[in-house]
Amino acid sequence: MKKPLVVANWKLNKTTNETRAFIEELKSYIKDVEESIEVVIAPPFTSLFTAHLATKGSNIKLSAQNVFYEDKGAFTGEISPSMLVDVGCSYVIVGHSERRQYFFETDEIINRKIKSSLKHALNVIFCIGESLKEREEGKTFEILQRQLADGLKEVTPKGLVIAYEPVWAIGTGKTATPEQAEEAHMFIREWLLSKYGVEDGNGIRVIYGGSVTPENIDSLMACHSIEGVLVGGASLKVESFAEIVNFKGRKN
Ligand code: PGA
Repeated sequence: MKKPLVVANWKLNKTTNETRAFIEELKSYIKDVEESIEVVIAPPFTSLFTAHLATKGSNIKLSAQNVFYEDKGAFTGEISPSMLVDVGCSYVIVGHSERRQYFFETDEIINRKIKSSLKHALNVIFCIGESLKEREEGKTFEILQRQLADGLKEVTPKGLVIAYEPVWAIGTGKTATPEQAEEAHMFIREWLLSKYGVEDGNGIRVIYGGSVTPENIDSLMACHSIEGVLVGGASLKVESFAEIVNFKGRKN
Protein backbone atom coordinates (compact mmCIF):
# COMPACT_ATOMS: atom_id res chain seq x y z
CA MET A 1 0.00 0.00 0.00
CA LYS A 2 1.35 3.41 -0.97
CA LYS A 3 1.55 6.13 1.68
CA PRO A 4 -1.19 8.72 1.09
CA LEU A 5 0.24 12.05 0.02
CA VAL A 6 -1.22 15.33 1.31
CA VAL A 7 0.18 18.48 -0.32
CA ALA A 8 -0.43 22.10 0.69
CA ASN A 9 -0.18 24.43 -2.31
CA TRP A 10 0.00 27.91 -0.83
CA LYS A 11 0.15 29.67 -4.19
CA LEU A 12 0.92 33.39 -3.81
CA ASN A 13 0.52 33.50 -0.03
CA LYS A 14 2.57 33.76 3.17
CA THR A 15 5.64 35.65 4.27
CA THR A 16 8.65 33.98 5.89
CA ASN A 17 7.31 34.70 9.39
CA GLU A 18 3.90 33.27 8.52
CA THR A 19 5.60 30.22 7.04
CA ARG A 20 7.65 29.56 10.17
CA ALA A 21 4.66 29.98 12.48
CA PHE A 22 2.46 27.68 10.36
CA ILE A 23 5.02 24.87 10.27
CA GLU A 24 5.79 25.07 13.99
CA GLU A 25 2.09 24.73 14.75
CA LEU A 26 1.49 22.05 12.14
CA LYS A 27 4.15 19.80 13.67
CA SER A 28 2.20 19.48 16.91
CA TYR A 29 -1.08 18.79 15.08
CA ILE A 30 0.17 15.93 12.96
CA LYS A 31 2.28 13.94 15.40
CA ASP A 32 -0.01 10.89 15.32
CA VAL A 33 -0.04 10.49 11.56
CA GLU A 34 3.48 11.59 10.65
CA GLU A 35 4.62 8.05 9.96
CA SER A 36 1.63 6.95 7.91
CA ILE A 37 0.91 10.05 5.78
CA GLU A 38 3.39 11.90 3.60
CA VAL A 39 2.88 15.62 4.24
CA VAL A 40 4.31 18.14 1.77
CA ILE A 41 4.18 21.94 1.95
CA ALA A 42 4.60 24.08 -1.19
CA PRO A 43 5.29 27.65 -0.08
CA PRO A 44 6.30 30.45 -2.45
CA PHE A 45 9.98 30.47 -3.48
CA THR A 46 10.80 33.22 -1.00
CA SER A 47 9.73 31.06 1.95
CA LEU A 48 11.39 27.81 0.92
CA PHE A 49 14.55 28.17 2.95
CA THR A 50 12.67 29.31 6.04
CA ALA A 51 10.40 26.32 5.60
CA HIS A 52 13.40 24.05 5.20
CA LEU A 53 14.80 25.18 8.55
CA ALA A 54 11.39 24.98 10.24
CA THR A 55 10.69 21.43 9.05
CA LYS A 56 13.99 20.05 10.34
CA GLY A 57 13.43 17.20 12.77
CA SER A 58 9.98 16.44 11.32
CA ASN A 59 8.76 14.31 8.42
CA ILE A 60 7.23 17.28 6.61
CA LYS A 61 8.64 17.59 3.10
CA LEU A 62 9.02 20.61 0.89
CA SER A 63 7.83 21.31 -2.62
CA ALA A 64 8.26 24.26 -4.97
CA GLN A 65 5.27 25.48 -6.97
CA ASN A 66 7.19 25.92 -10.21
CA VAL A 67 10.62 25.39 -11.78
CA PHE A 68 12.51 26.20 -14.98
CA TYR A 69 13.98 23.45 -17.14
CA GLU A 70 17.47 24.86 -17.69
CA ASP A 71 20.06 24.33 -15.00
CA LYS A 72 21.88 27.66 -15.25
CA GLY A 73 22.44 30.57 -17.58
CA ALA A 74 20.95 33.84 -18.76
CA PHE A 75 17.30 33.26 -17.82
CA THR A 76 16.37 36.28 -15.71
CA GLY A 77 13.89 35.50 -12.98
CA GLU A 78 13.99 31.72 -13.26
CA ILE A 79 14.86 29.01 -10.72
CA SER A 80 16.47 25.68 -11.63
CA PRO A 81 15.83 22.16 -10.30
CA SER A 82 19.25 22.01 -8.63
CA MET A 83 18.54 25.31 -6.84
CA LEU A 84 15.36 23.79 -5.47
CA VAL A 85 17.24 20.74 -4.24
CA ASP A 86 19.83 23.05 -2.70
CA VAL A 87 17.15 24.86 -0.69
CA GLY A 88 15.69 21.63 0.67
CA CYS A 89 12.95 20.70 -1.80
CA SER A 90 12.18 17.10 -2.60
CA TYR A 91 9.09 17.86 -4.72
CA VAL A 92 7.99 20.33 -7.36
CA ILE A 93 4.52 21.02 -8.76
CA VAL A 94 4.52 21.16 -12.57
CA GLY A 95 1.72 21.94 -15.00
CA HIS A 96 -0.73 23.49 -12.56
CA SER A 97 -3.72 24.90 -14.45
CA GLU A 98 -2.94 28.41 -13.16
CA ARG A 99 0.50 28.16 -14.80
CA ARG A 100 -1.08 26.91 -18.01
CA GLN A 101 -3.74 29.65 -17.97
CA TYR A 102 -1.94 32.76 -16.70
CA PHE A 103 1.64 32.00 -17.72
CA PHE A 104 0.95 30.26 -21.01
CA GLU A 105 2.73 27.03 -20.17
CA THR A 106 2.28 24.54 -22.97
CA ASP A 107 2.43 20.75 -22.76
CA GLU A 108 5.88 20.97 -24.35
CA ILE A 109 7.24 23.37 -21.71
CA ILE A 110 5.68 21.22 -19.00
CA ASN A 111 7.33 18.13 -20.48
CA ARG A 112 10.75 19.80 -20.38
CA LYS A 113 10.22 20.88 -16.78
CA ILE A 114 9.23 17.35 -15.75
CA LYS A 115 12.23 15.74 -17.42
CA SER A 116 14.68 18.23 -15.99
CA SER A 117 13.25 17.97 -12.45
CA LEU A 118 13.30 14.17 -12.41
CA LYS A 119 16.86 14.19 -13.70
CA HIS A 120 17.82 16.21 -10.62
CA ALA A 121 16.02 13.73 -8.35
CA LEU A 122 13.11 16.03 -7.58
CA ASN A 123 9.76 14.25 -7.28
CA VAL A 124 7.26 15.82 -9.67
CA ILE A 125 3.59 16.47 -8.94
CA PHE A 126 2.29 16.69 -12.48
CA CYS A 127 -1.14 18.39 -12.65
CA ILE A 128 -3.69 17.61 -15.34
CA GLY A 129 -7.40 18.28 -15.67
CA GLU A 130 -10.20 19.44 -17.94
CA SER A 131 -12.04 22.78 -17.96
CA LEU A 132 -15.78 23.05 -17.40
CA LYS A 133 -16.37 23.58 -21.12
CA GLU A 134 -14.33 20.51 -21.99
CA ARG A 135 -16.25 18.42 -19.45
CA GLU A 136 -19.60 19.66 -20.73
CA GLU A 137 -18.57 18.82 -24.28
CA GLY A 138 -17.72 15.28 -23.20
CA LYS A 139 -14.00 15.77 -23.83
CA THR A 140 -12.65 14.99 -20.35
CA PHE A 141 -10.82 11.79 -21.28
CA GLU A 142 -9.55 13.23 -24.56
CA ILE A 143 -7.98 16.15 -22.65
CA LEU A 144 -6.49 13.94 -19.94
CA GLN A 145 -5.09 11.63 -22.59
CA ARG A 146 -3.45 14.54 -24.45
CA GLN A 147 -2.00 16.11 -21.31
CA LEU A 148 -0.60 12.74 -20.20
CA ALA A 149 0.84 11.80 -23.59
CA ASP A 150 2.47 15.18 -24.26
CA GLY A 151 3.53 15.94 -20.69
CA LEU A 152 5.07 12.52 -20.16
CA LYS A 153 6.79 12.13 -23.53
CA GLU A 154 10.12 10.34 -22.84
CA VAL A 155 9.52 10.61 -19.10
CA THR A 156 10.54 7.75 -16.81
CA PRO A 157 8.15 6.89 -13.98
CA LYS A 158 10.45 7.13 -10.96
CA GLY A 159 9.55 10.10 -8.75
CA LEU A 160 6.34 10.89 -10.60
CA VAL A 161 2.98 11.76 -8.98
CA ILE A 162 -0.09 12.67 -11.04
CA ALA A 163 -2.55 15.21 -9.63
CA TYR A 164 -5.98 15.11 -11.22
CA GLU A 165 -7.28 18.65 -10.82
CA PRO A 166 -10.45 19.44 -12.76
CA VAL A 167 -10.06 23.15 -13.54
CA TRP A 168 -13.71 23.84 -12.69
CA ALA A 169 -13.12 22.59 -9.15
CA ILE A 170 -10.06 24.72 -8.35
CA GLY A 171 -10.80 27.55 -5.96
CA THR A 172 -14.50 27.40 -6.79
CA GLY A 173 -15.86 25.44 -3.86
CA LYS A 174 -17.19 22.93 -6.43
CA THR A 175 -15.50 19.63 -5.62
CA ALA A 176 -15.69 16.73 -8.02
CA THR A 177 -17.94 14.08 -6.52
CA PRO A 178 -16.08 10.99 -5.37
CA GLU A 179 -17.62 9.21 -8.39
CA GLN A 180 -16.37 11.84 -10.87
CA ALA A 181 -12.91 11.79 -9.32
CA GLU A 182 -12.84 7.99 -9.23
CA GLU A 183 -13.77 7.76 -12.91
CA ALA A 184 -10.97 10.14 -13.94
CA HIS A 185 -8.46 8.45 -11.63
CA MET A 186 -9.27 5.06 -13.12
CA PHE A 187 -8.78 6.43 -16.62
CA ILE A 188 -5.40 7.88 -15.57
CA ARG A 189 -4.36 4.60 -13.94
CA GLU A 190 -5.21 2.62 -17.06
CA TRP A 191 -3.17 5.05 -19.13
CA LEU A 192 -0.19 4.76 -16.78
CA LEU A 193 -0.39 0.97 -16.83
CA SER A 194 -0.38 0.90 -20.60
CA LYS A 195 2.59 3.29 -20.82
CA TYR A 196 4.74 1.99 -17.98
CA GLY A 197 3.60 -1.59 -17.40
CA VAL A 198 2.02 -3.07 -14.28
CA GLU A 199 4.76 -2.59 -11.72
CA ASP A 200 5.90 0.94 -12.60
CA GLY A 201 2.42 2.08 -13.65
CA ASN A 202 0.95 1.01 -10.33
CA GLY A 203 3.82 2.60 -8.41
CA ILE A 204 2.84 6.13 -9.49
CA ARG A 205 0.54 7.85 -7.00
CA VAL A 206 -2.54 9.55 -8.42
CA ILE A 207 -3.89 12.30 -6.17
CA TYR A 208 -6.92 14.63 -6.38
CA GLY A 209 -7.05 18.44 -6.19
CA GLY A 210 -9.86 20.99 -6.38
CA SER A 211 -11.73 22.48 -3.42
CA VAL A 212 -10.60 19.83 -0.97
CA THR A 213 -11.77 20.76 2.55
CA PRO A 214 -11.97 19.20 6.02
CA GLU A 215 -15.63 18.49 5.17
CA ASN A 216 -15.05 16.45 2.02
CA ILE A 217 -11.66 14.86 2.69
CA ASP A 218 -13.01 11.69 4.31
CA SER A 219 -15.30 10.80 1.40
CA LEU A 220 -12.58 11.54 -1.16
CA MET A 221 -9.95 9.48 0.64
CA ALA A 222 -12.41 6.61 1.05
CA CYS A 223 -12.16 6.12 -2.74
CA HIS A 224 -9.78 3.35 -3.54
CA SER A 225 -8.21 5.17 -6.51
CA ILE A 226 -7.53 8.46 -4.68
CA GLU A 227 -4.08 8.21 -3.13
CA GLY A 228 -3.77 11.69 -1.75
CA VAL A 229 -4.81 15.30 -2.22
CA LEU A 230 -3.43 18.63 -3.41
CA VAL A 231 -4.98 21.36 -1.27
CA GLY A 232 -5.04 25.07 -2.11
CA GLY A 233 -7.38 27.37 -0.16
CA ALA A 234 -7.94 25.01 2.76
CA SER A 235 -4.19 24.64 3.30
CA LEU A 236 -3.71 28.27 4.28
CA LYS A 237 -5.11 27.87 7.80
CA VAL A 238 -3.14 25.44 9.90
CA GLU A 239 -6.24 24.07 11.68
CA SER A 240 -8.04 23.18 8.46
CA PHE A 241 -4.92 21.72 6.83
CA ALA A 242 -4.23 19.67 9.95
CA GLU A 243 -7.80 18.32 9.85
CA ILE A 244 -7.25 17.27 6.25
CA VAL A 245 -3.98 15.52 7.12
CA ASN A 246 -5.79 13.73 9.95
CA PHE A 247 -8.54 12.44 7.65
CA LYS A 248 -10.47 9.36 8.68
CA GLY A 249 -11.70 6.30 6.96
CA ARG A 250 -8.73 5.09 4.92
CA LYS A 251 -8.73 1.34 4.71
CA ASN A 252 -4.99 0.76 4.68
P1 PGA B 1 -8.13 24.73 -4.16
O1 PGA B 1 -6.82 24.66 -5.07
O2 PGA B 1 -7.99 23.68 -3.10
O3 PGA B 1 -8.14 26.13 -3.60
O4 PGA B 1 -9.29 24.46 -5.06
C1 PGA B 1 -6.26 23.42 -5.43
C2 PGA B 1 -5.07 23.64 -6.32
O5 PGA B 1 -5.08 24.59 -7.11
O6 PGA B 1 -4.09 22.89 -6.27
